[in-house]
Amino acid sequence: MNYITEIKKLKEEKNAVILAHCYQNIEVDEVADFVGDSLYLSQMAAKTDADIIVFAGVYFMAQTAKILNPAKKVILPNINAGCDMADMINLQQLREFKSKHPNIPTVCYINSTAEVKAECDICCTSSNAVKIVKSLNAPEVLFLPDKNLGRWVEKQLGNVKVITYNGYCPIHDQFEPSGIEKTKSQHPKALVLAHPECPESFVDLADYVGSTTGIMNFVKNSNEKQFIIATEKGVLDRLKRDYPSKEFFDINATPSICQSMKLNTITDIYNALKTEQPEIQVNKEIADKAIKCINRMLEVSQ
Ligand code: 13P
Ligand code: SF4
Repeated sequence: MNYITEIKKLKEEKNAVILAHCYQNIEVDEVADFVGDSLYLSQMAAKTDADIIVFAGVYFMAQTAKILNPAKKVILPNINAGCDMADMINLQQLREFKSKHPNIPTVCYINSTAEVKAECDICCTSSNAVKIVKSLNAPEVLFLPDKNLGRWVEKQLGNVKVITYNGYCPIHDQFEPSGIEKTKSQHPKALVLAHPECPESFVDLADYVGSTTGIMNFVKNSNEKQFIIATEKGVLDRLKRDYPSKEFFDINATPSICQSMKLNTITDIYNALKTEQPEIQVNKEIADKAIKCINRMLEVSQ
């Protein structure tokens, strides 16, 4: 069976849309309607008039799409696709963090559970985090779970104290400044493009810091020919496919792979569309609170 053809047929029959994060296995792009970063995909999820949303991404992304579309069927092709960073803070840990720093607005990264979003003021993604924190007009904010993104936002703004929770992405947190020195010694002209989930000591040395879509747009708009890519391998794969006349280098000898992101296979997507499972459900009381936090972000990001 040709899974790609069958998926396309099923999408049509069932009025389904496939949203894919750019860390997914690259072949997923062949069936996806929209491919991009977390912000773009949540905006597409909020807008879609499809009856079924298949989210080729990780759990918090599908959960966010379900919160935005309570009446629609939202499916995560492989239910085990989680996010280690999102799992670093639960409701009790959030409450402890807030009680240590009372009366300060709380910003949660979209990489968090619905329960956590339900008790935060506004959420953000890596592409709008600076704008979101700025929009609060507060001298101090609590930021969770990603300490690295929080530190980067604080540096960009310069006049807001960002109190960070101690979470991080295990993939991005392992990038070290020595990797830049080593790769640059081999490719001195290459620009370093980094995701803000990388540590502060690393992003300080980068030529550009931005979300996955931000990195891809930077390459698109740049006249430079060589780039060192400091994020998950999915971005590197897509850049190599889309810009064959440019050169891209990984920062580490072994590629940086988010195993969870790679769990959704073409076969999983076919089975998900065929059986309309595994379906994501969110407790209504939690969803009603979490949607405020998500909608505030979408309003500020327009
Ligand atoms: P963006 O999609 O915002 O670049 O974030 C990357 C990520 O880690 C998603 O889990
Ligand atoms: Fe989570 Fe990091 Fe994987 Fe993104 S790359 S889904 S932040 S573990």
